Amino acid sequence: MSRFIRHCTGWRRLYSSVGASDIDHFKSILPPAAILSTVSPSALPSAELDPYNNDWMGKYHGSATTVLRPKTTQQVSDIVRWCASRNIAIVPQGGNTGLVGGSVPLHDELIVSLANMNTVRSFDPVSGILVADAGCILQSLTDYVAPHNHIMPIDLGAKGSCHIGGNVATNAGGLRLLRYGSLHGSVLGLEVVLPDGTILDQLTTLRKDNTGYDLKQLFIGAEGTLGIITAVSVLTPPSPQASNNVILALPHFDNVLPLYKTVKRQLSEILSAFEFIDRTAYDLAVKHGQGRALSDEDVDGAACFVLVETSGGRREHDEEKLTDLLTSLLEADSPLINTGVLSQNPAQFSSLWALREGVTEAVSKEGKAYKYDISIPLASFKDVVDATREHLRSKGLLGDHAVKHVLGYGHVGDGNLHLNIIAAAYTQEIQDALEPFVYELVASYRGSISAEHGIGAMKTHALHYSKNDVSIEWMKKIKALFDPLGIMNPGKVLE
Ligand code: FAD
Ligand code: MLT
Ligand code: ZN
Repeated sequence: MSRFIRHCTGWRRLYSSVGASDIDHFKSILPPAAILSTVSPSALPSAELDPYNNDWMGKYHGSATTVLRPKTTQQVSDIVRWCASRNIAIVPQGGNTGLVGGSVPLHDELIVSLANMNTVRSFDPVSGILVADAGCILQSLTDYVAPHNHIMPIDLGAKGSCHIGGNVATNAGGLRLLRYGSLHGSVLGLEVVLPDGTILDQLTTLRKDNTGYDLKQLFIGAEGTLGIITAVSVLTPPSPQASNNVILALPHFDNVLPLYKTVKRQLSEILSAFEFIDRTAYDLAVKHGQGRALSDEDVDGAACFVLVETSGGRREHDEEKLTDLLTSLLEADSPLINTGVLSQNPAQFSSLWALREGVTEAVSKEGKAYKYDISIPLASFKDVVDATREHLRSKGLLGDHAVKHVLGYGHVGDGNLHLNIIAAAYTQEIQDALEPFVYELVASYRGSISAEHGIGAMKTHALHYSKNDVSIEWMKKIKALFDPLGIMNPGKVLE
């Protein structure tokens, strides 16, 4: 029988904790090495579970007593069936790189880690369709398809740790969305273990399939609240024959939009990324050793930077287009840029990318980050960063003792700003100053409070800023339909 407790947001179900008899049962499903538990008779020290109980930022902390690491879909199904019968709540976990607290328990939920499900099931070099276990690390899939001259349709700074299953569960955006679109388009099929243990096999490799409701879309971005993704079928694009990049230093933020227009017009089909970092983000990336710094002269007077990438079919053609672009930008009567540095070889190419990709790492080295991942009109990127900084200043919270930096970076081409506030520590005072302030600001632009990172545990209370009551009501109905017991990642996405 389920028990309920009164919570500030309403009545909430109480789940069973994992006990010794559950561990005994899990031993009938999994080999001993796949069961990590502090519950006797296994009784590991709880520190062994720290990497699973704490998130990447060190902001969210769970107290799971048990982590299971299944290898097969059948094992996942058997685990979930048992949990449903025992009312044990589950947190599916991939690479644990999520930035909204979705991948760690709120209490002592069972963690099901997909890390051991890491086999490529098939790859068709003609169609480029890859079928892989959900626990495959994104970088390893990139390496797998590279000799066949294909790339993954998604790339992000966490590629060395995040799983393809986690990418799909969060509908991660990343650095290639401008060119290849979202995972809602490139994921062709999924295999999912539903909250009662049923295996939903929709692992199709068809490009076209209009046979009724497209159920897989519901799991893309569901953040593990509707089931555990165990395998993914994804369309991988052919590798571009040539990729180049350039970093542009701009004297004012106001130049970003006209620059974007110009770059789109001049580079047209070869433009593959247009990424933005403000001056604070750039300085932090350099300070923490991410990527190649431009010369002092290049950086002098720069308010922000844009990284432009091209991916095309013929190196000489693309280089010519990029060089023409740079020349026309620099020779214009009122130049939009101060300077631009073009990568000359693969090492420089990676180094310029690292300046942008490395901001997340740099931010985490600098202090404790409050991360807001928002969609707003491009023209308002700077206003939002400035308004947040001024708001914190007005509350007396700017300074080394409290908030050290307020910065912005992100995917201009996708209208996605990463507003980060770096503090000496996570405190209630800063939290209260930031929320609902930031969400109200986003809502005033009719923006989204989550462009790509998801809702997780961080934003359940704020969902209404971006979704109306009818939408939330239907989301709740869908959740109840798939997971009537509410055992799948409780307290995430929906309150
Ligand atoms: P986890 O963090 O383990 O989990 C994330 C969520 O998905 C949780 O709710 C979890 O329960 C659920 N989940 C995980 N696996 C499964 C599964 N198999 N079945 C069901 N549910 C599952 N995000 C972007 O969108 N764009 C970026 O550019 C980007 N860059 C990043 C850079 C860095 C350095 C870091 C640390 C993070 C970045 N992220 C980015 C955040 C992003 O969400 C993830 O990195 C990634 O998609 C999460 O994958 P993961 O395997 O680590 O999932
Ligand atoms: C990025 O674009 O760098 C990622 O989404 C991670 C972050 O927001 O820091
Ligand atoms: Zn991002």
